[in-house]
Amino acid sequence: MSLMRSVLLRASRSAWLRDHAMRTPYVRRATRRFMPGEDLEDALAASRELERESVGTILTRLGENLESEADALAVMHHYLDAQERLRETGIRSEMSVKLTQLGLDLDRDLALEHLLQIARHAQTIGRSVWVDMEGSTYTGATIELFRRAHAQCANLGIAIQSYLRRSAADLETLIADGAAVRLVKGAYDEPESIAFRTRREVDQSYIRLGERLLSAEALTAGVFPGFGTHDRRIIAHLRSRAAAQGVGKERFEFEMLYGIRRDLQAQLAREGHRIRVLISYGEAWFPWYMRRLAERPANVWFVVRSALAG
Ligand code: FDA
Repeated sequence: MSLMRSVLLRASRSAWLRDHAMRTPYVRRATRRFMPGEDLEDALAASRELERESVGTILTRLGENLESEADALAVMHHYLDAQERLRETGIRSEMSVKLTQLGLDLDRDLALEHLLQIARHAQTIGRSVWVDMEGSTYTGATIELFRRAHAQCANLGIAIQSYLRRSAADLETLIADGAAVRLVKGAYDEPESIAFRTRREVDQSYIRLGERLLSAEALTAGVFPGFGTHDRRIIAHLRSRAAAQGVGKERFEFEMLYGIRRDLQAQLAREGHRIRVLISYGEAWFPWYMRRLAERPANVWFVVRSALAG
């Protein structure tokens, strides 16, 4: 992991920096590259645009590690209202949630109950709900709660991070459950004892896990793979792997982040692949935005350029 990436990820946890950055106009301006706006309606408008280009969307409201049960309840109601807006507008987006947004730090059963309510409501509009994967202190609890919820609501999917050494074993459990799995590389700063630290190892792990998700055994079990990556080489590999195995394009999807690799998003859609773009919105964008900068430290120049332009 580069020094710059480490520094940015550490900065993502600084309350002082967060408070300053969120009040700074040029930083707010720079975030627009990765998010269409802070309101749900901004995300819906962007979804409508992308649907015109046959690109689906996943929506997530920013915010993690809430401090009170009332906050967690409010987040759950927000997602129910958002899904109602999907019903009203006919936009085909799905929601993605973080369990710490739903109260995981406060009471596991409460977080589970909130997740189930969102998933049951999503069933009434024919949508799935994704569970994001957070830092490694939450991995075990996230998978445990996900599996309990998935046993009752099959329209749930979960993110798994290829940088974690435990992910190969976790994937087998999820395959046995026939779950939808979004495979990502991982966005947090994890120690070498539990995570691969070099790009080569993380990529190799991604390919191994991706191939496993496309295996006949996984697909027969009902797994739906979502490949959450912008990595051209990995995408090309998984596409040819699926084609070689006769796996139809409707059996899996590619997922990318809003504002990143739009050319590749459009190309995959043109070539008949299922593609969804994750759109984040909300006011609590600081830690999320710092993780986007850390993924590609060259992005820091966008902030600098935005400051100069202002
Ligand atoms: P990699 O970082 O190797 O990037 C490949 C190429 O993509 C780069 O060379 C660059 O061109 C482009 N690129 C990637 N990131 C960029 C950026 N920020 N700005 C500009 N260009 C960029 N993580 C997590 O821990 N838990 C989760 O739940 C999720 N959820 C999630 C959902 C979806 C739909 C996606 C796409 C990603 C996530 N992630 C995530 C984030 C993920 O773990 C990872 O950090 C990013 O996707 C970047 O990794 P890539 O696979 O794109 O490869």
